[in-house]
Amino acid sequence: MDFVTRSIAWLLPMHEYKNIVYPYFITRENLEAMPNFQMRDDDIVIASCPKTGTNWVLEIITKILQAAGKSEATSEERAFAKLEFHHPELPQTTHLMLEDSPSPRVILTHLCPDLAPPGIANPEGNVKVIVVMRNPKDAAVSNYHFGLNIMRNYFYFGHILAYFLTWDRFCNVFLSGEAVFGDFYNHVLSWWQKRHDPHFLFLKYEDMQKNLTDAVKNVAEFLEMDLDDVTIKRIAKDCTFHNMKKVFENSDFKHRTFMARKGMVGDWTNYFSPEQSQAFDAMYREKLEGTGLEFEFE
Ligand code: A3P
Repeated sequence: MDFVTRSIAWLLPMHEYKNIVYPYFITRENLEAMPNFQMRDDDIVIASCPKTGTNWVLEIITKILQAAGKSEATSEERAFAKLEFHHPELPQTTHLMLEDSPSPRVILTHLCPDLAPPGIANPEGNVKVIVVMRNPKDAAVSNYHFGLNIMRNYFYFGHILAYFLTWDRFCNVFLSGEAVFGDFYNHVLSWWQKRHDPHFLFLKYEDMQKNLTDAVKNVAEFLEMDLDDVTIKRIAKDCTFHNMKKVFENSDFKHRTFMARKGMVGDWTNYFSPEQSQAFDAMYREKLEGTGLEFEFE
């Protein structure tokens, strides 16, 4: 990290827990409470790296539960449910709010299995975990823009700090594995190890972009919700980027209002220099070779 990046990191209200950097609204107290979080048999979990399509999948699940008559809750009502968070807008911390939430709960987490509650890392009974993934270059660009918005909207002097956090600086931090929420590859690979466990479904952002109807069908089947083709197609239509943009922009959560940015595969080409792209490719090969996990970038 260069001097300016180090100074920005030092000035931001963040803290480190088990070698991973978290923003202030993910408190140590919350992270320490995770081993004792109690699951319910009908819980649905979305486990993801930040900016990989978490809210997209939340919208799909929400619409599936509504169509199946299991819940009338909207994605706006469910958006608070990021397990390790204490949203600045809300009086209570999420894991305590979830204790009082009606079933079926949809729980969101950006934690790796080793920090997540045991009932998510090693689910039992009917608990279902959907792991969402996206290629690291687009995830990095999305993270960069979202991070700037978070800084500007939630941190004192955020506008000034955001001015100094250039793409080049952010890209270096992402490549070093020191980004907020930890190393991208540690995250995806730690969940990928669970791929043979039937409690898990893995979705890739790029596949959802290619065929959203298939993705919705896949999720509905995994959740054991019997929906006809017309309903599946209707949900897919409601969950296009264009239609979801309106849902996000009307949110009461400030962070959701800047959620729908570009919603595309390959936006990274507008940001990466050839050298940055090569450095990402080298790391991608080193980390994922032989794991069976791969991503599409265009
Ligand atoms: P971009 O910043 O590249 O546009 P998360 O929910 O994990 O924070 O991910 C946010 C990313 O998912 C953003 O990416 C956002 O635009 C994208 N996204 C959200 N809804 C989407 C949709 N319906 N279709 C495509 N992309 C979507």
